[in-house]
Amino acid sequence: MATSMSKFGRLYWGGFCAAKHTFHNNKATFCSSAKKGLIVGVYEKENQEEGFELTSVGAQFDQSSQGKLAQLLNIAGPTVKKGKTKLLYGVHEDYNSVAVVGLGKATAGYDEDEEVDTKKENIRAAVAAGVKQLRESGVRDVDVDPCSDAEAAAEGATLALYSYDELKEQNKRKKLVNLSVHGGNGRDEESWQRGLTLGNCQNFARTLMEMPANYLTPTKFAEMTGQKLQPLQNVTVTAHTKHWATQNKMEAFLSVAKGSDQLPVFLEIKYSGGESENEPLVLVGKGVTFDSGGISIKPASNMDLMRGDMGGAANVASAMVAIATLKLPINVIGLIPLCENLINGQANKPGDVVRAMNGKTIQIDNTDAEGRLILADALCYACAKLQPRAVVDLATLTGAVDVALGSGATGMFTTSTNLWQNMQKAGIRTGDRVWRMPLYEHYTKQINESQLADLNNIGKHGRSAGACTAAAFLKEFVTCKDWAHMDIAGVMENKDEIPYLGKGMSGRPMRTLVEFVAGMASKQ
Ligand code: BES
Ligand code: ZN
Ligand code: MG
Repeated sequence: MATSMSKFGRLYWGGFCAAKHTFHNNKATFCSSAKKGLIVGVYEKENQEEGFELTSVGAQFDQSSQGKLAQLLNIAGPTVKKGKTKLLYGVHEDYNSVAVVGLGKATAGYDEDEEVDTKKENIRAAVAAGVKQLRESGVRDVDVDPCSDAEAAAEGATLALYSYDELKEQNKRKKLVNLSVHGGNGRDEESWQRGLTLGNCQNFARTLMEMPANYLTPTKFAEMTGQKLQPLQNVTVTAHTKHWATQNKMEAFLSVAKGSDQLPVFLEIKYSGGESENEPLVLVGKGVTFDSGGISIKPASNMDLMRGDMGGAANVASAMVAIATLKLPINVIGLIPLCENLINGQANKPGDVVRAMNGKTIQIDNTDAEGRLILADALCYACAKLQPRAVVDLATLTGAVDVALGSGATGMFTTSTNLWQNMQKAGIRTGDRVWRMPLYEHYTKQINESQLADLNNIGKHGRSAGACTAAAFLKEFVTCKDWAHMDIAGVMENKDEIPYLGKGMSGRPMRTLVEFVAGMASKQ
């Protein structure tokens, strides 16, 4: 029987405070005697000797400071390199300090080689550098120049201020910063709000991923997601039980779950923002809250990172929050199978055979290839029961995709060029890119010749094309025409590659996914 999420009690909007623009990472209190700072963007001139060019809001502020901003900047610089910042004091009575941030060339735009909107990326990186420097210097209220794209500015600011430090003592935590957009018009305000939503939702995904596995069990994941979604309209959340999964013959999913003492949960989130007759877009996320590898155990070094093996689930959960908050006019269903991959006396053993919901049997030759087992049943359920318009799954599925692409892009496998083009376009806009990978029959042959069963859960050529054989395996459980699989193992963690994300779990590519859904909504 389905368990209603309402039992999970009172709602809270963790990571936010009642004031609209307030951003914080923890539950510390708001400081009213805060110092105030301003971020102002500046462009590079084509010719360095010509100095700098302020943004329109920057130029207005310069006027209100009687030209002091430009004057002090001329002394301090005058140029500010792209993504760098210069802190100025005594510019204006309203602000203790002004961070002038380098936006690069004013002509920046779509870069074909990089497949990215460079203008937006430059704004995110510059505002990120500015807010971090202001926080470092003791500022607690920051007004942000929208830099002609308030959405990108808000994303850069919220993403850069994030850190997961709620398990640390107070004086080791990053200080709270309140953010506001400066001097914008009504359109800027709306776009600023959208950016805050997207940034904060990506930060929610980062929190879910970063949380230690002893805190974030499958049940706790369902509880936190339920609480986040509770205040939003047109959303129902159902936490299906192990019993429900048994009734639905999800033996592949249950075979992984039974290796742990934690109960599995199959979370189903329904958002009805579109016309009721329109078929839903289904998003599926791998929710392995800890992956030890099982009997095919992983090496000890860096195994702690496997607390993030629910990155697909975190992306789907937070995308659902963003989609419902933005009230996108589309029907979307999120499916999140949640369990641990551990090693008790009932755990899967190499050579075991299980039967997925669609009746296909699977020989489990490697218990560490568990993600594809839990996704197999979720994909069967999506296609058989939900009449989807399209299905998109996200999973930290293979180390092999990290070998192929690293953190440069999410590997995307799809049966639909239309889905591919929409996702590629979304990635260009968000800066969180995707790269298309093949779903050839060539790879299917490497997983469908099993000694004991219909399929083997690993490719017969070992590590060769590991991301492609994993995708080929998933394809065996998909019956709808338009399907995409996103292997996000390579983008799971940020070291220092993305300047506006700190070190740690990335929450990528959540903003791309939401942008993609927004695109699908407008196409209906
Ligand atoms: N969760 C891992 C994949 C992973 C690796 C995610 C690194 C994030 C960072 C997955 O369950 C796994 O272990 N995959 C195996 C598959 C292999 C046994 C065919 C892998 O990639 O080694
Ligand atoms: Zn895994
Ligand atoms: Mg594994």
